[in-house]
Amino acid sequence: MATKPKSPHQEQPKTAPPADEGRFRDDTDVAVDAIHQRIVGREQTEPEEGFEPPPVWVWAASVVLLFVMGFYLGRYSGSWSTVAHEVESPAAAAAGPVKRTVNGTVVFTGVCQTCHQADGNGVAGQYPPLAGSEWVTRDAATPIRIVLYGLEGPITVKQTAFNNKMTPFHDKLTDDEIAAVVTHIRSSWRNSASAVTAEEVADLRAKYGVRGSWSAAELSAERSAR
Ligand code: HEC
Repeated sequence: MATKPKSPHQEQPKTAPPADEGRFRDDTDVAVDAIHQRIVGREQTEPEEGFEPPPVWVWAASVVLLFVMGFYLGRYSGSWSTVAHEVESPAAAAAGPVKRTVNGTVVFTGVCQTCHQADGNGVAGQYPPLAGSEWVTRDAATPIRIVLYGLEGPITVKQTAFNNKMTPFHDKLTDDEIAAVVTHIRSSWRNSASAVTAEEVADLRAKYGVRGSWSAAELSAERSAR
């Protein structure tokens, strides 16, 4: 007759259990229950969604933000008064729009510098140098023509050949701005050529009207035609 398999409980080692083992045995329900009660007693109530208090920094940031916005409105809103939009001096208003002076350095930095670089030396093989360029300094009309209508095709600058394309600026820059930037490139780095006026730019703009990019050969022809 096959022997009945022993219950796993009977497989327990015969050695005496450690003194405190009784705490973890099922037959000590009372002790386990007490431990359980202690643990349950420590538990927080289940959190409810949507009612968590925001972190302290959110409160602090909101207070600071409100304060800053309030300060800004108090300082700059002019109490929402329309006076802010009225001209302070009728005499100045009568004299017509204020004539702004254009800063050639600013135009150069914003418009030309990406290609011709801050030091006016251009980028080898791509953008020719303006510093020491005969196209910039020989006569005033040539650089104005280039900025107005752009330049395309082979050109030699400071004994170096370039063959690239410069976009025109006749529809992007005013006469004042072109005069200022051409004056800037003619007098920056070691260049020391004369200043250019907005009238010279306006004259050349009127003379050529709408036209495409120059080639270096055309520029040379225009230069000697003068
Ligand atoms: C997108 C790049 C680019 C910008 C922006 C640009 N240029 Fe040019 N420029 C060129 C290239 C390329 C050439 C040569 C074109 C060729 O190879 O035919 C050139 C040529 C010239 C030349 C004649 C050659 C020389 O080096 O003297 C002058 C003068 C000139 N640029 C002035 C200006 C001025 C002033 C501005 C700003 C209003 C300007 N450029 C903006 C790319 C640019």
